[in-house]
Amino acid sequence: MSKTRTIIPNGFSIRRIELSDFEDVKIVLAGLTTVGPITLFTYETILNYWNSVKLMNKPTEYAYNTSVIIDDHTHTVAAIGTIFIEQKIIHDGGLVGHIEDIAVNSDYRGQKLGKLIIDYLSEQGEKLGCYKVILDCDVKNVGFYEKCNYNQAGIEMQTRF
Ligand code: COA
Repeated sequence: MSKTRTIIPNGFSIRRIELSDFEDVKIVLAGLTTVGPITLFTYETILNYWNSVKLMNKPTEYAYNTSVIIDDHTHTVAAIGTIFIEQKIIHDGGLVGHIEDIAVNSDYRGQKLGKLIIDYLSEQGEKLGCYKVILDCDVKNVGFYEKCNYNQAGIEMQTRF
């Protein structure tokens, strides 16, 4: 059953990430974590890689889907988020969506754009055939994801290098 029906507010649009978003993307993601001194060349190489990986059974659809919400007046990136579609063996060769790297530009927080990008990515996961969409988050953001119809399931484990 579908839980999400994305409604894009007036003055904003959503689209796949583009080369021209480079400077804005660095600023928005810096609100999430360390971006580092990434070059335009590396950014372009990553976008080209993302554009080259397609779903096994849907060769026109991307496995890496990074979307940006654009402020149509300023043409700047107000928010960003990714859903990566994982091809599994279990669940009859099922698909799982992984939401990653959600960030809203600090000037645009509190306007429901965070919820909008989560709704949009979740809807993409559903349309692409995922049987579930999962994500990791900081404890301080649990309430935000609950507002986006996600519930706690399990505990994240990690080893860092
Ligand atoms: N804890 C609890 N509730 C929160 C919350 C938080 N940290 N952040 C937002 N909410 C609530 C809002 O009050 C709103 O509730 P309402 O519908 O009852 O009014 C709802 O969640 C939707 O909020 P929204 O306006 O869409 O949030 P946002 O656009 O400000 O984006 C973040 C939220 C977390 C994405 C944004 O603050 C951000 O980019 N933070 C820095 C990067 C980050 O932490 N990313 C998430 C990584 S896991």
